[in-house]
Amino acid sequence: MAPPQDTFQKEEMSVTMADAIPTPSEPRYPVTKRTLSPPARGSPPTEVALKTGQDHKNWRSRSLHRLFSSTEHLNPDAQLEEDARVRDSIQVLRMNDRGGYTVPAEGLYPFQWNWDSAIVSAGWAVFDEERAWAELETLFSDQWADGMVASINFIKFSDTYFPGPEIWGTPEKPSKTSGISQPPVAAMSARFLFEHAENQDLAKAKVEELFPKMLAWHRWWYKARDPEKKGVVAILHPWESGMDNSPAWDEAMKFPIDPELPPYVRRDLTHVNASMRPTKDTYDHYLTLLYKFKKAHFYDPDQLYWISPLRVTDLCVNSILFRANRDLRWLALQLGKEEETTEIEQWLDAGFEGFNMLWDEEAGLYKCQDQITGKLADAGISAAFLPLFAGVASKEQAAKLVENLERWLSKVKYAVPSLNPEDPRFDQLQYWRGPVWLIINWMISNGLRHYGYEELADRIKQDSIELTNKAGLREYFDPLTGDGCGGRQFSWTAAMCLAWLDRPAAIGIGHKLSGPKKQLE
Ligand code: GLC
Repeated sequence: MAPPQDTFQKEEMSVTMADAIPTPSEPRYPVTKRTLSPPARGSPPTEVALKTGQDHKNWRSRSLHRLFSSTEHLNPDAQLEEDARVRDSIQVLRMNDRGGYTVPAEGLYPFQWNWDSAIVSAGWAVFDEERAWAELETLFSDQWADGMVASINFIKFSDTYFPGPEIWGTPEKPSKTSGISQPPVAAMSARFLFEHAENQDLAKAKVEELFPKMLAWHRWWYKARDPEKKGVVAILHPWESGMDNSPAWDEAMKFPIDPELPPYVRRDLTHVNASMRPTKDTYDHYLTLLYKFKKAHFYDPDQLYWISPLRVTDLCVNSILFRANRDLRWLALQLGKEEETTEIEQWLDAGFEGFNMLWDEEAGLYKCQDQITGKLADAGISAAFLPLFAGVASKEQAAKLVENLERWLSKVKYAVPSLNPEDPRFDQLQYWRGPVWLIINWMISNGLRHYGYEELADRIKQDSIELTNKAGLREYFDPLTGDGCGGRQFSWTAAMCLAWLDRPAAIGIGHKLSGPKKQLE
């Protein structure tokens, strides 16, 4: 079922970036007035400085509370550095706040991205709980009638990104969202916020509201992306995986480019060096898929699965969906929702079976699978370790994964490269073909802890701290040199610093896994 196509209002189209500062009546949530060009470090504009000063105080009092109520002790030498990084991270979230949602990065990604926002909410939670819940609420405010939550919500006008709302829709009727989804992180974050909430009443009320929406979204994944009931879902577009340019679908991407592809101008290359971005050929394939899906009754999910020339069982989406199912089940239990709990347990049971198809015993790794040819991908990618985070790997599989991971890490300086460094396609700068992402590090590190690999989990955390110390809050990092790559002042990297890396602010290592069959608690 297609979303309403006329919801991206005409007035919004005429809003310029300079006008984008929310007026008091406009936002659904309290917002900070902001400047549009991020300030140089150390010279924030006064209003943001005032606000982040208060945020920092909130964070300090909350972190001290956490510190004294936990067994973790603060290392005084590290305190100053942590303090500075927390200030920077808070400032980045405030700067990228557009009123109830956070853009991933000014210019490069000027709308609300799905899994970015869900991850970012965990960062907000460290110093502003209300704002953290607002992030998730806004994400679901444009949920489609069939349950899908799109990869991008085009909330306010911007012309710094391609393909924007007029491409996903039509120039006359720009679409309010993209027509595909992204890894379903939201239930993980909702549980994270709920478990660490100081304001329990607020948390309970928000989870009550969000639960049916999250459930509808997970149902959508199974209905629209697993109609053949494999227990694992397909992605139909690389953008749906979140790891857009991964070599895991190099083979699957060899379908013909649409000979009538309308000419287009990329905007990403005006923000970031071309050596760090996907090639023109890859973009032609991305757009071939987009136009094909649009022609199918505006992204009708019942058709897309069958007509898409790309259909891959992706490890990132499936690991996150599996983990999110565990967390959604946990929330269902808190809310006393018995029927829903049973439904989610069925997904988990089917998922255990489905993941078996993705295990490559010889390589000792999980692999993405091309559903059209049935072949496992040849590439070993960082998402191969995410089944640890999902808690779907057996102890034996975990041991093999760790062996592989240790070998990979012996070839790079900083964990975890997005592609096996021994792969000839490994490129330390190219999008998802080598560099390190902190959000993936966070998930892998947490997964390793659950399986008892504390030392390796610590190494990944330590490397992540060093990367942000060295290069700042960049989008991703070169695993050989530690240099920062892609966008700057990046929201999810800031959120990871707040929610994970800074010890006094670290709100645990992530909650424990729970679920049927394989209890890891
Ligand atoms: C890129 C990433 C994607 C992310 C988006 C916004 O497209 O590959 O995962 O959601 O940027 O940060």
